[in-house]
Amino acid sequence: MTRFTTRAILAATRSPEVNQIPSAVPIYQSAAFSTADAAELGDVLTGAIPGYAYSRIDNPTTAALAAAVAELEGAEAGLSFATGMAAIHAAIVSVVHSGETIVVTNAVYGTTRDLLVRILGGLGVRTEFVDPTDHSAVDAALARTKSHALYVETISNPTIVVSDLAALASIAHRHGALLLVDNTFASPFACRPIEHGADIVLHSATKYLSGHADVLAGIAVGRRDLMDAMRPILVDAGGALSPLAAFLVLRGLPTLALRMRRHSETALELAAWLAGQEGVVRVMYPGLPGDASHEVAVRQLDVFGGMMAFELAGGRDAGRAFLDAMVISERTASLGAVRTITSHPPSTTHRQLDAAALAATGIAPGMLRCSVGLEDAEDLRDDFDRGLAAALSATGTRAGGRASE
Ligand SMILES: Cc1ncc(COP(=O)(O)O)c(C=O)c1O
Repeated sequence: MTRFTTRAILAATRSPEVNQIPSAVPIYQSAAFSTADAAELGDVLTGAIPGYAYSRIDNPTTAALAAAVAELEGAEAGLSFATGMAAIHAAIVSVVHSGETIVVTNAVYGTTRDLLVRILGGLGVRTEFVDPTDHSAVDAALARTKSHALYVETISNPTIVVSDLAALASIAHRHGALLLVDNTFASPFACRPIEHGADIVLHSATKYLSGHADVLAGIAVGRRDLMDAMRPILVDAGGALSPLAAFLVLRGLPTLALRMRRHSETALELAAWLAGQEGVVRVMYPGLPGDASHEVAVRQLDVFGGMMAFELAGGRDAGRAFLDAMVISERTASLGAVRTITSHPPSTTHRQLDAAALAATGIAPGMLRCSVGLEDAEDLRDDFDRGLAAALSATGTRAGGRASE
């Protein structure tokens, strides 16, 4: 008979035998998986046989999530990561090396820009930024730099520009480069970049895939050989997703279509309403017929999505006043959640930039970005109306007139 503590350890770590199929993917909250003998452990660790040994290398719950997103994106294989940035880092590092150049859309998420310029730039990777809608500039940049990779976002953060993925894939492939696409803003319900020729698709699953603002996660999907090339970076750099986080993202996927339809319907309604209000200079939403991305969006997106941006006539002060007056929308920097989130990049995430630097990134001083949630559209319109009234009283005028859409 073993003693108490030994007995407690053995009793508490004995996995139950389950012969039926659970309705939800179980949370395999275990750091390691033991084997019948040393030979089996060696075979699992070297990949000679499928299996699990250590959760930084692989875990059944995180693998189930990667496989599910790969299936939704129409990809051969996928990998789960602790955050979207960990996935983006692994993808870029797997295709671009020191001394080489990556061609990147200038309308790119700020942290991705920082990763490229500050972190990878310090390690000898050069980044050439281009306008993703100027296809001859993309072509010229790939030719000049002999780059192996072109990196774009399906819908850009925060400027809501839709990239023409089929055109960009054919330009990239003509130069022997891979097309990497951050599909976070669209989600695989609105767009599946692999259908348009993309090679690697990336997600911050923190956003629409999970949908409830309660978890950080990242996903990469694509051809099996490309995922195999990324796996050592995931394993060695240690960006593995936790099983509980994977479970929370898995719980979001079955309602993704319902949520994306509702996000899109409400966003279109609000964008059209905002475009007719005094004091709103411009509304950037691909669902509006007058939007610069509308024609590409109609060809490429199944729904127009929940992300929009708009520019107020009163500049920075108007933007700040609008944001501070909102009572339903959250004032924060994330997106893709059930609750509406509005941010004013010039006074928050981009406040260090002066007017010229903001203009260079396509961000007007009075620009707000909104992730339209699942609330009732009428309540959100009231919230926007409160914002507009506050912007008016802060700046004393609705000068600037109506938007053109
Ligand atoms: C378009 C886009 N890509 C990637 C990320 C990074 O994702 P995470 O915060 O999960 O690392 C974000 C985060 O806001 C994003 O908006």
